[in-house]
Amino acid sequence: MSKLPDTFLWGGATAANQVEGGYQEGGRGLANMDVVPQGPDRFSYMFGDVSDLSFKEGRHYPALNSIDFYHHYKEDIRMMGEMGFQVFRMSISWSRIFPKGDEEEPNEEGLRFYENVFQELKKYHIEPLVTICHYDFPLYLVTEYGGFKNRKLIEFYKRYVTVLFKRYKGLVHYWLTFNEINDSVILPYISAGVLIDPGEDRDVQTYQAAHHLLVASAWAVKIGHDIDPENKIGNMVCAGEWYPYTCAPADVFQAITNNRHLYFFTDVQARGAYPSYGIKELERKGIKIPFEEGDKEILRDNTVDFLSFSYYATHVVSADEKINADIAENPLATLDNPYLGPVKYKRQDDPMGLRITLNTLYDRYQKPLFIVENGTGAVDELRNETVEDDYRIDYFRKHIQALKDAVLLDGVELLGYTSWGCIDLISASSAQMSKRYGFIYVDLDDEGKGTYKRYRKKSFYWYKKVIASNGEDLD
Ligand code: BG6
Repeated sequence: MSKLPDTFLWGGATAANQVEGGYQEGGRGLANMDVVPQGPDRFSYMFGDVSDLSFKEGRHYPALNSIDFYHHYKEDIRMMGEMGFQVFRMSISWSRIFPKGDEEEPNEEGLRFYENVFQELKKYHIEPLVTICHYDFPLYLVTEYGGFKNRKLIEFYKRYVTVLFKRYKGLVHYWLTFNEINDSVILPYISAGVLIDPGEDRDVQTYQAAHHLLVASAWAVKIGHDIDPENKIGNMVCAGEWYPYTCAPADVFQAITNNRHLYFFTDVQARGAYPSYGIKELERKGIKIPFEEGDKEILRDNTVDFLSFSYYATHVVSADEKINADIAENPLATLDNPYLGPVKYKRQDDPMGLRITLNTLYDRYQKPLFIVENGTGAVDELRNETVEDDYRIDYFRKHIQALKDAVLLDGVELLGYTSWGCIDLISASSAQMSKRYGFIYVDLDDEGKGTYKRYRKKSFYWYKKVIASNGEDLD
C-alpha cells in the first residue's frame, strides 16, 4: 500500500470545557472546570489539592464562556466543512445533560443542543467522534459525592451514557469513553472529578477512582454495543513514550516502568484485565483495588473496539535519582532530550516519537488506532485578517509524515487523525487563549476580551490541501 486508505478520516478535535461556554444556557449545571481559575494556582486544582471550589472575586474563569462554540457552532462547523473535515472530535458537557449528575431524567434542552450540532455536522458529511467525558463532571458530583472516588458515579455515568447512546443512535458512530483516563492518577480533579483528602494516601484515592473509571468505561462499551452494534467505542489515553536517559540497562528498565503507567490503562481497556506488573506495583504500594462482584467480568467482556490517544511529546527518564532529582517531585516533568529541538511549553517536538507510539501500541494490541489529539501551542499574530503560521504547518507536516510512515511502511492500522484545537481554544493547563493550536484564529485574549470573530490562518488552507489529497500533498 503506498497511499493511506480512502476510509482514513481527517479532521480536528476540541472539548466542551475548552470551547463551548454558554454555562448558564439551556439549563446546564456547573461543571468541575467552570470553577478553575486562570493563574499560578491552576495546577493545585488539577492535582486535586484544593478544598475550596467557590468563585473568587477578581479571578478569571475561562471555561464559563470559552470561545462560545455554543452560539458559534454553525459558523465553526461551516469552516470545518470548508477545510474538508471528515471527522470532528468534540465532547459532551455532562452537566448540560444531567445538570447535577444524579437526576433520574435528562435535560431535554441539553440533548437538543447536541442533536442540532450533529445535524449540522451531517450537512457537511462530517462524522462526529464524541468524547463522552472530557475533563467534564457535574460540579455537584464532585462536591456531594467526591467524584469517581465514589462507586456511585459508575451508576450515574451508566445512566448518562444510556441516554446518549439511545438519543444519538444513527447520528453518532464513533465514541470515546473518557479523555486521557491515565491522567486520573496524576490529575485527579480534572480527569476524575476527585479532590484529594489530605488525611488519606494519595495513591489509594487515585487508583480507587481509576478503577471506577475503568469499570464505568467497560460499561459504556457494553451499553453502547447493546443499543447499537454499529457503534465503534474507543478508549483515550495521553500517550508519548518514555525514553531511557542512556542505554544502561537500569535506565532502560526505568523507561519500561514509566511506560507501564500508560499500559496499565490500555491493558485493562484493550485486553480486559489488570496486568500482572500493575497488580504487583499496587501490592507493593499497599493499594487494594476495590473490586466488587461482576467487575472482572465486565472488564473482560467489554474491551474497546479501537484505541485512541493524544500525542504531543516523548519523555526521558533516568534510573539515577540524582539525575532525576529535578523531575522527581513532578509526575508531569521530563528530562530534556539532547537529540531533539528546543523546549516549548515544556515539550520538545518529536515527530518520530509519534511513529514509535503508533508502533508500540499496535504491536501490543493489534487493534485499530486513532490519533485524536496532536498539535503545537504557539503565540500567533493576526495581521490583515490572517496568521502566517508556517511554524504550525511545519509541525503538522512532520507529524503527518510520521503517521504515514507508521501506516505505509510499518503496517499500523490507523482509522484517522484529528489535530488538537483545530480552532483556537482555552488551554487546559495554562487556561490561556494565547497558547493557540488552531487552523482558525479566534479573536479573544487571555482575559477573555475580544470580538469572538473567527479568521482563517495560512495553515487552514494548507490542511485543506492535505485532506483533499488524502495526505499526499504535504508541501
Ligand atoms: C490534552 C488534553 O492533554 O492536551 C486537552 O486532552 C488539552 O484537553 C491538550 O487541551 C493540550 O494541552 P494544553 O494544556 O496546551 O491545552
